[in-house]
Amino acid sequence: MLHEECISMALDALNCSYSPYSHFRVGACLVCEDGRCYKGANFENASFGATICAERCAASNAIMDGNRRFSKIYISCDSGYAWPCGICRQVLNEFKAGDMEVWVGSFDNEWKMKKLSELLPESFGPEDLEQ
Ligand code: THU
Repeated sequence: MLHEECISMALDALNCSYSPYSHFRVGACLVCEDGRCYKGANFENASFGATICAERCAASNAIMDGNRRFSKIYISCDSGYAWPCGICRQVLNEFKAGDMEVWVGSFDNEWKMKKLSELLPESFGPEDLEQ
């Protein structure tokens, strides 16, 4: 999919957000190495710690489709920027195919990109557990 189509998919995913507590909607479009794309949205819980972020929702959708090679992710919110939280950075790190591009943006701003290696330097990953 083209860059603009990925942005549209991430913005469209905001419609699936269940965020009655924070009122902060987050959407995601996760792009895999083979070109397949997966949507995600945050879904909250009355027990706040059970909340799932948009990035991990998209990752779950990819994993359940048999896809474990993530190349890019687009993360949307209603305004401003929602960089991925620490837990989501770690989850993306597990399934990255090379150094992932992490794009963030919303309806009213320029989209920005950083590499996952910038967002999670000196990471601990599957290679550290190889014998
Ligand atoms: N959230 C995400 O979905 N992704 C992030 O990377 C940051 C935070 C969600 C979780 C919660 O539903 C809301 O944003 C406020 O923290």
